[in-house]
Amino acid sequence: MPTFSSIFEKDVYKGLTAYPKNLSSKYFYDEKGDKIFQQIMNMPTYYLTNAEYEIIETYRKELANLFDDENGFDIIELGAGDGKKTKVLLRYLEQNKYNFTYQPIDISKYALRNLKESLGSELPNLKVIPQEGMYFEILNRLSEYKKRKKVILVLGSNIGNLVHEKAIDFLQNIKSSMNEGDLLFMGFDQKKHPQKIINAYSDEEGITEAFNKNLLTRINNELDADFNIDKFLHWETYDPETGTAKSFLVATEDQNVNIKKINLEVSFNAWETLHTEVSQKYDDQIVKWLATKANLKVISQFKDSKCLFKDYLFSI
Ligand code: AVI
Repeated sequence: MPTFSSIFEKDVYKGLTAYPKNLSSKYFYDEKGDKIFQQIMNMPTYYLTNAEYEIIETYRKELANLFDDENGFDIIELGAGDGKKTKVLLRYLEQNKYNFTYQPIDISKYALRNLKESLGSELPNLKVIPQEGMYFEILNRLSEYKKRKKVILVLGSNIGNLVHEKAIDFLQNIKSSMNEGDLLFMGFDQKKHPQKIINAYSDEEGITEAFNKNLLTRINNELDADFNIDKFLHWETYDPETGTAKSFLVATEDQNVNIKKINLEVSFNAWETLHTEVSQKYDDQIVKWLATKANLKVISQFKDSKCLFKDYLFSI
């Protein structure tokens, strides 16, 4: 394999020379991708956001009691985004004078700055300690700090973008950063009517399509490539048995793409697929199995009134 100057280059090379072709959905998220994802979260068909919002709003008092500790506690959030759902909880905790800090972790300085600014105006007395960097480096550092209880939040079914094997690694990594008494509160989108899932990931306005195709635009811009994004269509599938939703880009005709920066010419046959995302849907059995594999205990669960989404509480 040639030498590369970034992991992105290497992953693009590996994914586009593999059969079947694939790329990781983690590359959806540049500045433009973040903005499209905000639009997705506001789409009526993308039920996940409102369902989890309802859970946090309904159970904020119960959650506050579960999170509380005599020495206070630190809420550490992985991938906070715009914090819309978390703010419901933070507002409740602050208004009721709980002793806590809020520590959002994100790799993007830009995302953290926006979040800190909006929290500064909406909840000016909140103690916010932004942590810029990779999730696990920061969690490892924080795990050495054993004086206060940690409550780790991972909202929005972010875990669903990992195949089970990677999801177990993710949970094991989180687990190894937890001490006795610490908690993990994590969102898992649930299995439901398959059409509802398909609709959430293939809106008619083309917002999800633009999100998916942003991956090709990124390759064009960052790796000097010439993908014609109009020659690909966005396609979603859902397998109700496994609970796996998958996004593809499908080539609508034979074509060649030149990716100059990595010196790669890729050919697509008409109707060849490029797999870009997994959005796993869960039930209690799958969550329990994942937790067991990661040596975590499920101690409680919270669902919305339509049973679309659940947040589970884990301890070590
Ligand atoms: C971030 N993640 C949980 C979203 C999901 O539902 O898989 C990303 C997304 N992809 C298409 N729409 C939303």
